[in-house]
Order: sequence, then C-alpha cells, then structure tokens
Amino acid sequence: MKIGRNDPCWCGSGKKYKSCHCANDEKMEKLKSMGELVPTQDMLKTPEQIEGVKKAAVINTAVLDYISDFMKPGVTGDQIDKLVYEKTTELGGICAPYQYEGYPYHVCTSVNSQVCHGFPTEELVLKEGDIINVDCTTILDGYFADASRMFCIGEVSAERKKLVDVVKECCDLGLAAVKPWGHMGDVGAAICEHAHKNGYKVVREIGGHGVGCEFHEDPWVGYNTRPGTEIVLVPGMMFTIEPMVNAGGQEIFIDKDNGWEAYTADGSDSAQWEYQVLVTEDGCEVIAR
Ligand code: MF3
Ligand code: CO
Ligand code: CO
Repeated sequence: MKIGRNDPCWCGSGKKYKSCHCANDEKMEKLKSMGELVPTQDMLKTPEQIEGVKKAAVINTAVLDYISDFMKPGVTGDQIDKLVYEKTTELGGICAPYQYEGYPYHVCTSVNSQVCHGFPTEELVLKEGDIINVDCTTILDGYFADASRMFCIGEVSAERKKLVDVVKECCDLGLAAVKPWGHMGDVGAAICEHAHKNGYKVVREIGGHGVGCEFHEDPWVGYNTRPGTEIVLVPGMMFTIEPMVNAGGQEIFIDKDNGWEAYTADGSDSAQWEYQVLVTEDGCEVIAR
C-alpha cells in the first residue's frame, strides 16, 4: 500500500506525506537496500502517541520523585510497593508491573547484588549502606512510561557510591550517543566503554527495549555493542537506556523459586538506571528518567 505524496501522512499529523514522513521513509528504504537494519513503521511513534506517553511519564516521574524521600534505613519493600501503588493510582495511572507476565508486585526493587526484578517484600528491610534500584512503569490511557533510579541508603561505601555514579554516567554517555541516523550499537558502545574503563561488566542477558504503546516493544536493546552496529536510529523511535552493570563478574542467575529476581553469580554489587528516550530530528529527548 503506497501513500501518494499529496496524501495525508500515515502518522496522523494532518500534514501531506511529502512534507512529513516521506523523506525519512525514503531514507530508510535506501538504507535497507544497503543491508542496514531499519525500524518498521510500528517502531516509529506518531505525534499523538508521543503526547500520550509524555502524560504517562509525568506520573511516572512524580512517583519516582515521591518515593525518593522514603529511601531510608528501616523502610521495607512492601512499604515501597504501597507508596508506588498509592501515588500512581492517586495520579490516575496504573502500575504496569503488577501481574505483567505474572509479576506479583507494583514495582521492582533491586538491592546490592540483585541485578533487576527484585521483589518489594516485607522481608526486604533497607539498611544503612545498601544501594537499591527502584524501577517504576506507569500506564496512562494505554501509554507506557518506564524509568528507574538508584538510591543510596544512608552512608554507603566508596565502592558502592562509585558504582552508582558510574552507571549513571554510562546512561548519560549512552544518551549523548543517541543521534538520528546513527546506530543503536553506538549507544551500547558508549555505555560498555565507560563501564569497562571502570573495571565493571555490563549484563548481556537482559537489556532495554522499545516502549510506549506496550511495556516491552521491539527492538531489544543490548549494551555490549560496537559503534555502527545494530538497528538504525530513526526519528520517532522510543526506547529505554537501562544497562545493568556489575562491579564483579558478568554472570547472573535468576531465582529458581520465583523465576524473576536476578542476581550477580559472584554476589558482587550491580547497579542500573533507566531512561526512556525518543529519537528526534536533531538528537533525542528524554521522556522519563
Ligand atoms: N521495568 C522493567 C524494565 O525496565 C521491567 C519489569 S517487568 C516486571 O523493563 F514484570 F518485573 F515488572
Ligand atoms: Co525498561
Ligand atoms: Co523499567
């Protein structure tokens, strides 16, 4: 089905195709014929979808801001779960993790050697010196916002503080590498270069993802990549930058009893930050963090 140059653009902008997505579509066709991996049309968010996701992101950001005041010694996982659930609901959103593929809580709380998908249980009691990732995903009107932050509980060791800070730097460097008509591999390259320089390893098995109209969309995003590889970044693509970085070895394992909680194999610490980004015509925009 070919759109005429004077027809309305497929993105619903109301503009004629020739003055909207036509040039980008032609550029993608050309790159594809040269053997590049390019996004499918459903990986490109329309203006309406972008607006919807941004509204979900306002809530997600407010929830992360809200819980940050509670990240203190003695706070329990079930308290964090309740805070996230209540604030999200109060603001009109839905917690995407709850019952997502059977996930039993409203938020993921991953402490110290937990890599991701940690359960916010009542047995989890934050103590001085812990580092914790809190990962919130909000649904509003069917649109998804996904971001996570690290918190240091009281005074933490210099090693843990460094890990937390370096992984944030990794995400910022990855963000700076997001350029229209660049490659996804540029993002991972910036991330793993900085991680390796600091003696850390980037987890291979779990990565980022397209996001916006679903919780997890294509493409899957790995961060152990080389520049100029992977899918071409096209304006309208929305995905997460969320490397899991281990202070020790790269290996991880998943708790066999619950099938969710991931840990470093050697018990070393792991940290993660998550940004949701949109590729734009002249760079990128952070949608949530
Ligand atoms: N929020 C996580 C991510 O960044 C996914 C958590 S899935 C859940 O992709 F089911 F555990 F919530
Ligand atoms: Co994510
Ligand atoms: Co997340």
